[in-house]
Amino acid sequence: MKKAIVTGISGQDGSYLSRLLIDKGYEVHGTIRRSSSINTSRIDDIIAEHESSGRLNLHYSDLLDSSSLSNLITNIQPDEIYNLAAQSHVAVSFKNPIFTTQTGTLGSITLLESVRYLDKEVKFYQASSSEMYGGDFIGSLNEESPFNPKSPYAASKVFAHNVTKLYRETYNLFAVNGILFNHESPLRGETFVTRKITKAVGRIAMGIQSKLTLGNLDASRDWGFAGDYVQAMYLMMQYKNPDDWVVATGETYTVKEFAEKAFSAVNLNWEDYVTTSEKYFRPNEVGYLLGDPSKARKNLKWKPEVSFDQLVQKMVEHDINQAKKEATLLKESLISPTWENPVVN
Ligand code: NAP
Ligand code: GDD
Repeated sequence: MKKAIVTGISGQDGSYLSRLLIDKGYEVHGTIRRSSSINTSRIDDIIAEHESSGRLNLHYSDLLDSSSLSNLITNIQPDEIYNLAAQSHVAVSFKNPIFTTQTGTLGSITLLESVRYLDKEVKFYQASSSEMYGGDFIGSLNEESPFNPKSPYAASKVFAHNVTKLYRETYNLFAVNGILFNHESPLRGETFVTRKITKAVGRIAMGIQSKLTLGNLDASRDWGFAGDYVQAMYLMMQYKNPDDWVVATGETYTVKEFAEKAFSAVNLNWEDYVTTSEKYFRPNEVGYLLGDPSKARKNLKWKPEVSFDQLVQKMVEHDINQAKKEATLLKESLISPTWENPVVN
């Protein structure tokens, strides 16, 4: 049985990827952080199903605690490592730049250094990002396009990307960069714009929210479905040689278009509910992202299965069901009302 370590297993991608790896027959070891409230909600069903058999194992670790990472690798002797953990919110990276940079950079080099000294070949996946491109070029971006990071988050991802490539070339490691464009799902964090919109749509439809405040409505993103994108991660790690890969849909839509589609899924006009506030604008903005996934399509035989319309529909449906549950609890006074956006961003 192959063994995989997944850092950041409690995140959106960690949850989809661990399910996929377990289905493929892997023994999965995921890292979680100690927190004052339990933070495993995205993987609770996988824990219930697979922890007792040892197919899913959780370990306390932090990317800043290098001993926790190297001990894990020495003890588990994995076949594959997927480095997904990061402070992944771009706007927050301007507010916590040092923490974002430390986690974004130290995790990758610590893991690569540990892998380098193992006696067996361990494949390494780095979660690179389309944010690294910077968003000024109005055209499609591929593996050769230049990087121009616009945030501490993106700058840290450029470091991790470069060091992964460096270790591949210098020490002949099977070290892969997946340059993933934005990917969303019902499990997306609620402070990213797509989920913030679909959550609001569900709550507005159920009468428990009255408006939605956003930032730059003109930003354009190449949005895919997270379930499709973890499939690409897995395929990269099975390919004959390690490489850098762009994973994207090849279509881009503005935030305004996403909002329009999400509100129209419940027969509402987005303009009646959406306002904007400077609070949600960033000090430096990535305006336009469009990916060219030709290489992955040709060599990995990968293509996205979920279209933009299906993605929006999937997220809205999920958030309507969530809002229904919330409305019932509110009616029975089992919870207190929250304000429009319980968290900033
Ligand atoms: P996410 O939902 O924010 O999950 C991030 C994970 O990293 C969580 O499990 C989080 O733990 C963990 N984490 C954060 N700081 C950590 C630290 N210091 N030590 C250990 N773990 C830490 O992100 P995602 O959307 O799944 O994305 C996965 C990776 O892909 C990230 O590296 C992200 O930057 C990158 N990426 C994402 C996209 C996208 O569109 N989703 C696109 C390109 C690249 P807690 O649950 O405890 O917070
Ligand atoms: N979060 C947020 N909240 N973004 C908003 C809002 C708002 O209220 N209003 C407009 N936006 C705009 C942002 O300014 C940005 O241009 C766009 O919506 C997308 O923002 P996010 O959903 O926060 O995602 P991101 O593109 O900054 O970053 C995500 O994708 C990257 C890949 O390109 C994250 O998942 C990163 O971790 C990932 O690397």
